[in-house]
Amino acid sequence: MTPRIAILPDAVADQIAAGEVVERPASVVKELVENALDAGARSVRIAIEDGGKTLIRVSDDGEGMSRADAELAIARHATSKIRSAVDLIGVGTFGFRGEALPAIASVSRFELETSPDGRSGTRLRVAGAKLEGVEDAVRQRGTTVTVRALFFNTPARRKFLRAQAAETRAVVDAVTVLALARPDVAFTLTSDERTLIDVPATTEPLDRVHGLWGRAFAETLVPVAHREGPLEVTGFAQRPAQAKPAGRKAHVFVHGRPIRDPFIVRAAEAGYRSTIAPGDRPSLLLFLELPGDAIDVNVHPAKLEVRFRDKFFVERVVEETVRNALAPLAAAAPFQDSGQPWQGDWSGGSIARQEAFFPESGATDATRPAFDILQLFETYLVFQSDSGVAIVDQHSAHERVLYEGAMRQLTGDGAPAQRLLLPLTLEFSPAELDAIDEHRPLLQRVGYEIEPFSGRTVVIHTAPNPHPRFDAAQCLQELVADLAGGRFGGWANRLERFAATFACRAAIKAGQHLSPEEMRELIGRLLTATLPAHDVHGRPTIVQLPKDELERRFGRT
Ligand SMILES: Nc1ncnc2c1ncn2[C@@H]1O[C@H](COP(=O)(O)OP(=O)(O)OP(=O)(O)O)[C@@H](O)[C@H]1O
Ligand SMILES: [Mg+2]
Repeated sequence: MTPRIAILPDAVADQIAAGEVVERPASVVKELVENALDAGARSVRIAIEDGGKTLIRVSDDGEGMSRADAELAIARHATSKIRSAVDLIGVGTFGFRGEALPAIASVSRFELETSPDGRSGTRLRVAGAKLEGVEDAVRQRGTTVTVRALFFNTPARRKFLRAQAAETRAVVDAVTVLALARPDVAFTLTSDERTLIDVPATTEPLDRVHGLWGRAFAETLVPVAHREGPLEVTGFAQRPAQAKPAGRKAHVFVHGRPIRDPFIVRAAEAGYRSTIAPGDRPSLLLFLELPGDAIDVNVHPAKLEVRFRDKFFVERVVEETVRNALAPLAAAAPFQDSGQPWQGDWSGGSIARQEAFFPESGATDATRPAFDILQLFETYLVFQSDSGVAIVDQHSAHERVLYEGAMRQLTGDGAPAQRLLLPLTLEFSPAELDAIDEHRPLLQRVGYEIEPFSGRTVVIHTAPNPHPRFDAAQCLQELVADLAGGRFGGWANRLERFAATFACRAAIKAGQHLSPEEMRELIGRLLTATLPAHDVHGRPTIVQLPKDELERRFGRT
């Protein structure tokens, strides 16, 4: 009997392996640019034609290759980057498999030009894995790889390529991600001679973001930086008020390697809890550094995933990183998008201690700023700090303060409620009565002691006391209607949802006149909150107008 099993010819095996590495033009670009970066390039130039379907060319000024190395480079499992499996631990290069060049060369008309010294050079041509020629070439130090007629010999794959625009977009994305990973390297990308990306080398990651996505976007970001144990996280997170439901950018890098990890992105989003509107998706750029033995990079055919030894630790630290970045007042929204980040001293000098006007609002020691505050349109509170003008929305600010207070009450001892001299009786619909029943312990903790009376009527014995003009009956009616109507439905956590609904209804409203004392009290509370710059609906509580900006506008600088 003839054997049924036979070893595949190399060319066929290469093409099958290529299926994992080379999916579309963008994956070719990714592999070639990674090689250029691994070769120590300071500048990488990428050109494509017809979405990369007819031509892809990547040139670098890296270390280049000798002729012998160039010939080896297109053989499978030929790599200069590791020598044994141990070297995979903490591998610092993008490449380590020795797969990319042979895979690409097996499904295209491939040309490699390289020189290690700018004097001797090699040109090598391969078509569908077949070496067609090796010759001398004159060029500067570095390497240029040209890939023509991708998938010319695998028509099935060629058919799966998308329209030119879609393939071009995928190439732009691939280059963008690597350009984010390496701000210290210059990148250009042209598509049919049109320049799509042109960014110079920089030491400032934010310059790179600015170069790729523009100034307006870069200015919606606040820096993040946090270290815990072996893990360091740096990067940028978008201000909650500037996040939108669509079109966000989320990129995670581990030890310089771009990876796809929805869990890390979700952990970062969890850091936005209570500051962002449900459905809004903040942009995130996170660079994780941790020792090589804490990750395994060899778990995905295109190296798009890594495995963490302690995934939960990583997720927790990422969440904290984002949380910490949103806490300082520097995370407050700028007056306009071109505004400078706020770096002011918010105390305005001395802080006086006084009896609280907003007794319900959390911190037991009421600190009061000593500076003058002006109320505009009975809605906005304006004051000066050392470095500019702060404008606070009185409702949003009070909402944030009450939210944090309510969370403490719900998870701690509850609020010091005020016993009503004359108990209130209120009527509710059956659905609302159900909501009251369901939330009775939470209502009690924020200060509402409610008892069924008869039929649809309840009696309220105690009520919270968040500010002097608080209307306990109206607040309860609104709160219960929200709870019954499923408002704040996007909130995952029940306590947080309740606290946000309560804060929204109990807070002073826009259009309410405040005395100077009340304004000082409110601002004092806000400035000592944990997340002072963001309200609970994804809006800012504070907008900042830097003094610099005033000086610029009035021509004083
Ligand atoms: N632009 C370049 N400059 C200098 N050397 C290069 C360049 N591109 C490839 N090489 C050399 O060719 C070898 C093979 O490249 P290839 O991309 O196939 O494998 P790799 O990068 O080692 O691993 P991987 O398959 O994971 O990318 C590399 O190890 C490197 O030594
Ligand atoms: Mg490679």
